[in-house]
Amino acid sequence: MITIIKYRSIATILFIILLFFTKCINEGKDNADKTLSSHFQKFAGSASCINCHKTIYESHITTAHFHTSEIASENNIKGSFDSGKNKFLYSNGGIVAMERKSNGFFQTAFINGIEKKSQRFDITIGSGTKGQTYLSWAGAKLNQLPITYFTATNQWCNSPGYPDKIAFNRPITSRCLECHTTYAEKLSQPLADPVAIERSRFILGVDCERCHGPAAKHVEFQTQNPNVKSAKFVINPAFFSREQSLDMCALCHGGRLQKTKPSYEFTAGNKLSDYFVIDSANKDATNIDVHGNQIGLLKGSKCFKMSKTLTCITCHNTHENEKGKEALFSQRCITCHNSIHTDAGICKMVVKTGNKIKGKCTACHMPEQKSMAIAVLLQGEVLPTPAAMHTHLIKVYPEETQKVLAFLKKN
Ligand code: HEC
Ligand code: HEC
Ligand code: HEC
Ligand code: HEC
Ligand code: HEC
Ligand code: HEC
Ligand code: HEC
Repeated sequence: MITIIKYRSIATILFIILLFFTKCINEGKDNADKTLSSHFQKFAGSASCINCHKTIYESHITTAHFHTSEIASENNIKGSFDSGKNKFLYSNGGIVAMERKSNGFFQTAFINGIEKKSQRFDITIGSGTKGQTYLSWAGAKLNQLPITYFTATNQWCNSPGYPDKIAFNRPITSRCLECHTTYAEKLSQPLADPVAIERSRFILGVDCERCHGPAAKHVEFQTQNPNVKSAKFVINPAFFSREQSLDMCALCHGGRLQKTKPSYEFTAGNKLSDYFVIDSANKDATNIDVHGNQIGLLKGSKCFKMSKTLTCITCHNTHENEKGKEALFSQRCITCHNSIHTDAGICKMVVKTGNKIKGKCTACHMPEQKSMAIAVLLQGEVLPTPAAMHTHLIKVYPEETQKVLAFLKKN
């Protein structure tokens, strides 16, 4: 089979069609000893939610979660294939060119002008907020391609963590997929990496069922019982304890966690520490990198320590793309920071400078900082360039305050 598809229904149809055409093509040894689980059958795919949850579905498909992994295509590969913009030069003279061919998009390596290797962009990882990296199938395994797209400078760069020379053989780990997809069915040992995957049982994107659990039974029940207005067989995080709610997001936003059970076994509602060793050694929030560990940073904040309810979803409506909506986030701060709920009132600065800072709470208290965890080597440079991310260590940042005040004065 040559295709993986986001929705099971489409996948099934394609699967049947492809069977006709590819029956005689040997797929490779990787798939030979497949032991498929029944777990995949429990997923319905988000397309099946449209009929009954249209509003949520339509906004969900605009989120970074939904787009965080997709089949590579003209529509979602961020970088340019135009000549003059489509090459990356290594310091040793090697070149990788991003090429458009009749059968897809490729990264092609040239050494001394001679083509050495060409691999297809099969899957994109990253909606492109900070950057986007690419995976290529090698049998049932996936390798990361040497070149990544870096959004801040709008250019191709050496994939993070790669040496300054061309490499095509870095395998993708199951943990990497666990944070960037909804489900992958593994053919190899559950805990072993690199991971071999059954391509027809791969659900891309961080989709509905990642947070609500596999929902095929819910869809079946609600479809057969249209008069039942309450929900059955689906997880509603609105009823979670604080710990459950944080764990649901910490699975992917809790930094490096070491797994003790096979990937994809954790479901929202479970206790994260039953599935991972939680690294509590790094307790000093000021030392946690801003990449991928919003939990650690938030837990170091007074807002978190001194309130009983604050979780990720106090500020984030994960069904919506709320990126850059400063005023909306500020409104959510004010639900707690008003003279009724805390002694501090809204903010001493509001008293000093007036109401116009009311919509800018996050610019001063959750400023963007450089993340060395998402840092890439740009062409011709020796030091990596970092992406910027909003810190979740909420506190007073005197330097940012000066910058924001200066900005407000000018505008
Ligand atoms: C045939 C209609 C139907 C389909 C299809 C459907 N749902 Fe539902 N769902 C309902 C009804 C009815 C409710 C209860 C009322 C409400 O909350 O909207 C519900 C509620 C929910 C809830 C809230 C749970 C609760 O306890 O209130 C979640 C979460 C949910 N659905 C997720 C999904 C997901 C994910 C899909 C797609 C995989 C899906 N639903 C497909 C009908 C459907
Ligand atoms: C299965 C892993 C996973 C889970 C679970 C998860 N996230 Fe994410 N989240 C990601 C990934 C991966 C990204 C980066 C998406 C991208 O830009 O490619 C992301 C991005 C985000 C963003 C940034 C969106 C943007 O517009 O740039 C927010 C906010 C966020 N997640 C909040 C949450 C919250 C809140 C929860 C818990 C309800 C949660 N996430 C659960 C993996 C996950
Ligand atoms: C612990 C979960 C986790 C693991 C493991 C993980 N990521 Fe991520 N990744 C995230 C989250 C969350 C984000 C969103 C930014 C942030 O919070 O750091 C992200 C961001 C990204 C981005 C930028 C997305 C964008 O739109 O800007 C890329 C590219 C990426 N990851 C690739 C990878 C690759 C490749 C691997 C495996 C080698 C990997 N990630 C492993 C959770 C993870
Ligand atoms: C990143 C995690 C995440 C994803 C992805 C996600 N949800 Fe939710 N969903 C939540 C959380 C958290 C709540 C509880 C929100 C609250 O407490 O207000 C929720 C609540 C709901 C509810 C019940 C409350 C309501 O708002 O009506 C429904 C129905 C629902 N989600 C359906 C969906 C569907 C359908 C999709 C995909 C199209 C989806 N969700 C994707 C996290 C998620
Ligand atoms: C769930 C309630 C809640 C929410 C939402 C909330 N906070 Fe807080 N925050 C608190 C509590 C409680 C404290 C500690 C008591 C105090 O200083 O008022 C606090 C403390 C602070 C402090 C003082 C920190 C320090 O180190 O002295 C700042 C600054 C702050 N919050 C800013 C914000 C901003 C900005 C937002 C929105 C992005 C926000 N808070 C959202 C509850 C909350
Ligand atoms: C007090 C409010 C608040 C809480 C609580 C909160 N966030 Fe955020 N988060 C924000 C704001 C504000 C931004 C910046 C949004 C923007 O401007 O696009 C943000 C941005 C993000 C981003 C994108 C980072 C970037 O700058 O690219 C991710 C990922 C994220 N949050 C995840 C989480 C997770 C996971 C949790 C729970 C541990 C969480 N957030 C809790 C307010 C909050
Ligand atoms: C221009 C930058 C700036 C903006 C915008 C801003 N703050 Fe502040 N905030 C500060 C500074 C500086 C302090 C420390 C003031 C002091 O100690 O005199 C502070 C203090 C605080 C405190 C600690 C208690 C206090 O008053 O000393 C809280 C809580 C707080 N801010 C919340 C908010 C909220 C909520 C918003 C949005 C409505 C906001 N801030 C907007 C700069 C800002």
